[in-house]
Amino acid sequence: MLWSKILILIIVIIICVVTVLIFDQSSLFPNQITKFTFDVAKESENSIIHHLQDGIHLAIVCANQKFNEIALTTIKSIMFHHRKSYILTFHIFTDAHGKQLISTYFSSMINVCTQFRIYSIDNLMKVSEQFLKKHRITVSHYSGIYAFSKALIHDLLPSDVQHVIVIDTDVIFVDDVYSIWKQFDLFKRNQTALGLVPWYPLVPIDYKYKASAPDPFLTGIVLLDLNICRRINFTQLLDNVVDTAYQQFQLRSLWSADQVVLNLFATYFPDYFTSLPCFVNGHTFHYLLDGSRWKSSCEGKYPRTLHVVPSNNLLNKSSYFGHWYATFNEMPIEWLSYCNLDQLRIENRTNI
Ligand SMILES: *[C@@H]1O[C@H](CO)[C@@H](O)[C@H](O)[C@H]1NC(C)=O
Ligand SMILES: *[C@@H]1O[C@H](CO)[C@@H](O)[C@H](O)[C@H]1NC(C)=O
Ligand SMILES: *[C@@H]1O[C@H](CO)[C@@H](O)[C@H](O)[C@H]1NC(C)=O
Ligand SMILES: *[C@@H]1O[C@H](CO)[C@@H](O)[C@H](O)[C@H]1NC(C)=O
Repeated sequence: MLWSKILILIIVIIICVVTVLIFDQSSLFPNQITKFTFDVAKESENSIIHHLQDGIHLAIVCANQKFNEIALTTIKSIMFHHRKSYILTFHIFTDAHGKQLISTYFSSMINVCTQFRIYSIDNLMKVSEQFLKKHRITVSHYSGIYAFSKALIHDLLPSDVQHVIVIDTDVIFVDDVYSIWKQFDLFKRNQTALGLVPWYPLVPIDYKYKASAPDPFLTGIVLLDLNICRRINFTQLLDNVVDTAYQQFQLRSLWSADQVVLNLFATYFPDYFTSLPCFVNGHTFHYLLDGSRWKSSCEGKYPRTLHVVPSNNLLNKSSYFGHWYATFNEMPIEWLSYCNLDQLRIENRTNI
C-alpha cells in the first residue's frame, strides 16, 4: 500500500513537473527562439558589418565599344548577384563612349545601393605611358596598355576608398561579390597591400620568376588595401621591381601586361602580399578549362567568377561561356535593382 502511494505520488510529481516544463516552454519557446535567432543574426550581422561598413568598391578599366559593352555585362552580373545589404560602388575608368554607354544604361535604375563613379581614362593612360616610357618597356600582351594600367589604378582612386577589387572586363560573376570581398580577411592587418590567385598548375616552391611564363599569380581579380598602398608608396615599389628585373634579366617587355608587374611585386615584396583561394579568379585556361580540371585544381570549392580568356569567347554564342555572357548581356535591367535598404538602415543603427 505504502509503495503504491509513493508510486502515485511520484507519478503525480512527474506529471506536475512535466506540465510545468511544457507550460514553461510554451511560454518561453517563442522568446527563446526569437532570442536565439536574434543572437545568431546579430553575430553574423556583426561580421558582415565588419566587411561591409564602407561598402564594396570595385574598379574596372575599359575602353572602345567592344570592351565597354563587355564591361557593362560584367557589371550586370555583379549587380544580379548582389544579395547582401551593402552599398556597391563601381569605379569605372573609361573613354567618352563608355561614359555615355554606362551612365545612360544605369540612369533609369534608382537604387541607393549602387553607385557609379566614372573617371576619364586619360589620366590613367598618362601615368601608364609615363611608367612604360620611364622604364623603356613595352606591353606585348594583346590587351595592351589598358590591361597594364590596372597596375597603377591605386594612384587614381579617391582617398575615401580604402579597399578595392580590381576586375578585368572579361570576368562574369556567378556569385555575390561579397564572397570575394570577404577575402580581405586573409590580409595581415596593417601589412598586406595586394592579394592574387595562384597560377594553375602551381609553380614549384623554389621557382625563380623571370617575368616570363608562367607567372606565379593571375591578375583577373586583384584585391588591394589602398591604405597600405598609399603608405608604402606602391607605385615607387613597382618602379623598383621593374628596375631590378631589368638589372637581373633585362626585362624589356611585359608579356602579360599588369600581371608581370604585380608578380614582380609579389616576388620581391612577399610581406606585402597574400595568395587568395582559387575560386576568386575562375580563369578558363587555368581552373575552369573543363569539369575535371576544376575538380582537381579547386576541389571542394565552387567558382565565384568565370574569367573568360581570350575574351572573344564571350561573344561566341555557341560556346558554353558565350551562353553565360549572353544571359547577363540580355538580362532585363529590372532584375538587377535588388536593394535591401531597410537592412542597410538597421546596420547603420547597429554601427552607431
Ligand atoms: C602600421 O604600420 C606602420 C609602419 O609599420 C606603423 O607606423 C603604424 O603605427 C601601424 N599602425 C597600426 C594601427 O598598427
Ligand atoms: C611615390 O614615389 C614616387 C616615385 O616613384 C614619387 O614621385 C611620389 O611623389 C611618391 N608618392 C608619395 C605619396 O610619396
Ligand atoms: C564558338 O564556339 C564553338 C563551341 O565551342 C566552337 O566550335 C567555334 O569554333 C567557336 N567559334 C569561334 C569563331 O571561335
Ligand atoms: C547610412 O549612414 C550614412 C552616414 O551616417 C548615410 O550617408 C547613409 O545614407 C546611410 N544609409 C542608409 C541606407 O540609410
